[in-house]
Amino acid sequence: MSGSSEDGSAPEPYDATPYLPSRGGLPAHQRAAADCQGCPLHRDATRTVFGRGGSDARLMLVGEQPGDQEDREGVPFVGPAGRLLSRALREAGIDEDGLYVTNAVKHFKFTRDETRKRRIHKTPSLRETVACRPWLMAELRLVSPELVVVLGATAGRALLGPSFRVGADRGVPRPLPGAEDGPRVLATVHPSAVLRARDRDAAYAGLVADLRTAAEAL
Ligand code: URA
Repeated sequence: MSGSSEDGSAPEPYDATPYLPSRGGLPAHQRAAADCQGCPLHRDATRTVFGRGGSDARLMLVGEQPGDQEDREGVPFVGPAGRLLSRALREAGIDEDGLYVTNAVKHFKFTRDETRKRRIHKTPSLRETVACRPWLMAELRLVSPELVVVLGATAGRALLGPSFRVGADRGVPRPLPGAEDGPRVLATVHPSAVLRARDRDAAYAGLVADLRTAAEAL
């Protein structure tokens, strides 16, 4: 996919495929992803944030994109949403050390609040999500988990298609479309949505319940 250019310059690429290595495991992919320019998000982000965990993980979690702290540290889910996720995983009886954790989009997208000098999260577009999908598909192939938990709408759209809606599709393991022997996929809310929810306790309880279903499905 390419972006249009009004000034006649070369169109913007929207596809990570040319940056993927032709072989190698997770470490080779992580090294290659560091140089990805498959969409314009690489320009403002500090670094590519690749997944963490081993290729033997039976359960993979997919979030949206790195946040401010993840962009600084280069590791997914180390900020406030990550801390909430860790607590929910513990409550659901899931050992975080055995997981593979990644994001649908590997660069932080944000706007700047110039008065307060903060970087404010901006939801990645479907086009950016699709551009980054080759990295996610490579992680899926290399880890080959039994179950994938998608956290929120962006991750759900990346794996289950653009019509995915968290409210309608959460909590039930289903086959990954287009992958006959592939993993099952279970959708739940994004931990950041729990942090923003008006009834935070209810939203958190829902997340833990879905993670328990995931643990039972393994
Ligand atoms: N939100 C995400 O979706 N991923 C992260 O890594 C951090 C926050």
